[in-house]
Formats: sequence, structure tokens, C-alpha cells
Amino acid sequence: MADEMSSRVPGFHNLTVEQRRRLLAAWLESDEAEVAGLLDSGGLRLEVADRLSENVLGRYSLPFSVASNFQVNGEDVFIPMVCEEPSVVAAASNAARLARAGGGFRVEVGDSLMTCQLQLFCSDCRQARSRLENERQRLLEIANRVDPTLVSLGGGAVDLQVRQLQAEEGEAFLVLHLLVDVLDAMGANAVNSMGEALAPEIERVSGGRVGLVILTNRLDHRQAEARVNIPAAALAFGDYSGERVRDGIVAASRFAEADPYRAATHNKGILNGVGALALATGNDWRALEAAAHAHAARDGRYRPLATWRTDRQGRLAGVLRLPLPLGCVGGATGAHPTARLALRIMKCSTARRLAALAAACGLASNLAALRALSTEGIQRGHMRLHRRALAAAGHPGDRKDARCQSR
Ligand code: MEV
Repeated sequence: MADEMSSRVPGFHNLTVEQRRRLLAAWLESDEAEVAGLLDSGGLRLEVADRLSENVLGRYSLPFSVASNFQVNGEDVFIPMVCEEPSVVAAASNAARLARAGGGFRVEVGDSLMTCQLQLFCSDCRQARSRLENERQRLLEIANRVDPTLVSLGGGAVDLQVRQLQAEEGEAFLVLHLLVDVLDAMGANAVNSMGEALAPEIERVSGGRVGLVILTNRLDHRQAEARVNIPAAALAFGDYSGERVRDGIVAASRFAEADPYRAATHNKGILNGVGALALATGNDWRALEAAAHAHAARDGRYRPLATWRTDRQGRLAGVLRLPLPLGCVGGATGAHPTARLALRIMKCSTARRLAALAAACGLASNLAALRALSTEGIQRGHMRLHRRALAAAGHPGDRKDARCQSR
């Protein structure tokens, strides 16, 4: 059944929770009761929560939603999102609907390489460097002994690079980068364990002393690139022509490209989508945000992660590039039943696919924000949903059950 289903469900937001769950169960070719059971319990049993963190008193719930309308690399998909902010899911769904007019999002994802840094103090950096480079292959073999399972699956340590740094005050020191293909894991534990296991041998070979051993959240390799081209006509709404909306979005992009103050907020909008998907799948969203901001500032100036232009056919063309350290095995992703459900909803068994969907969701979130900001403003749609959230939480004031109407 799921193969025949589309993620384009007009009026999805107007369905009741039960109706949405029914639709999701059909999408999953699963029992409605199973889906309801997982979602009602919040997924996490107290005993599991008590093992996931420390000093646990209970669990903490947030809305678990799916964004509809997404088409990524030609395939329909619902995107699970966990977010406390009203309008984030509506915005992503709405932009995904617009993107369908251009064939949806196209995404490419790079290799799953993570890097562990080892800080190395030595009296003669040049000599230490040359010794380490001569022993590179043997050092990689030592690192790979730490995780034979990863190696047997085709991953493992692939390179050891040596950099020389000069502290602002004090001596020069070396930094080793141990590059590890972590396959479908987020990979923090794998690379940190390999780095720590390697440290004594690094000291022996170099004659130096190892300082910090920890992965870097600045990722050169594990990057995704999402693209979309939308015919201008599909962007029209209310009194706004498609060309007017397209040009407004391009002008908003140029603002972010010219101004780091604006770029920070532009990127926050992208992370609304990416972070909500990371949270829904039990991933480390702080690592993801650190990686995104480090990438945004990679050349010394903070820049937007996504940019928009008009292409030769007059379509709105968007591109997003960002690093995505996301895993679909291990950690909370494996332990949290709702995170596993989120992966099932996306038919996600590889980190590469998860990163592709996250990038599409990030570009959709950015598109929705820029479209609103460059036309009617963000507050109209946002406050409509915000009032509804306040009313549901028992706050006095506007109790109109206003739903976002543009989907
Ligand atoms: C709000 O959560 C996100 C926005 O500020 C993003 C943006 O300004 O592009 C609307």
C-alpha cells in the first residue's frame, strides 16, 4: 500500500490526530494500534530513560509530527519532526508542496567521514611529523583494531593527517586528524575510542605528549547538497505574483549573503527543519548545530548555508550545503522506540538517506521563511498558530482554532 501512497495529502493538517495516525499506519503498512501505542506512550519507558541519562526523574514530551508533501530524489516521503515552535512543521510542509511543482528536492550526500583530533606537544614538531607520516599505515591499523565490526562492514580509519598549529601565546604544537568512515552511525563514540586507543602509540612514535583527544564538529567531508528549482507561477499566492515572490526570496538571500547578522537568522530557519528531524530520530542536535555554524563561518566570515537565485528558465533556484553528522544506528536512535518509528516512516536504513532527507527539510524550512518574510511577513501565519498553541495550553486570550490556511 505504501508504495502507491503519496506524501501529498491535501488538508492533512485539518485531519484529527486519529485520522493522521490511521494514514501513517497505512503508510507504514502497520497496525494502527501499534502506531498509536508507540505515540501515546511517548515511546521511552522510564527504565530506558534512566539508562539514557543520569539523575532521571521522568520523561519530557514534545509534539511528534510529520511534515507532508515531501518529494526527495523522486520519492515521496513524510518527514518526522519534533519541535516546540508553532509553524515549523506547517512551514516545511507548505514549502515541500511548492517544491513538488519543480519535481521536489534533489540531494547528494558525501562520505560518512568523521574526524578525531589529537593534540600533540613535542619538542621537535618537524621530526615528530615526519616520524608519524612514515608510520601512517601502521597507526591506522592500530586504530582499526578498536572497532572490528565497523571495519568488517566496510568502514574504519582511512587517513591520518598531521597539521602544525601555533598557539596565540606559547609553543607550536601538532594536531593529528584521524579520519574514520563511520558508515551509518553518527560516529562520535567510534572516533573518540579510536583516537584514545591510538594516543599511547602516537606518543611512542613521536616522542611527544598527547593532550586533548576528541572529535571535531567542523566537518569537511560529511556534507549534503540539496537543490530545488521551482517555476515562478507555483509561488504565487494572494495578491503576490510568482515573479514577485521569487524576486523577494532572491533579495532575501542576497541580504543574508551580505550580512552576517541576517545570515545567523537565515541559518536558524534552516536548522528549524534539520534540528526537528534530528530530534525526532534521537540524534545529537547540538553536534549538528555546531557543525552547521562552523561550516557557515568556514572562511572567517559567517555566511548563509542556503542561497537563492533565478535560473535561466526564470525558476526560483535554491541550493543548501551543510554538514550532517546524523546516524541511524546506535545511541538514542537505537534505544528510543519513537526514534525508530521515525526512521521507519522515512524508510531510513542508512545515514546517507537520513542526511538527504534532513537537507531537503532544511531547504524547505528556509524557503518557507523567506517566502513569508519577503511577502506578508512572518507574524501573520506564525501568530495564528501560536495563539492556537497558547489556547491549547490553557492560556487566556484568543482561543480561535485558527489553522494555517495556505496548505
Ligand atoms: C524563526 O524560527 C525562523 C526565522 O526567523 C528564519 C528566518 O528569518 O529566515 C523566520
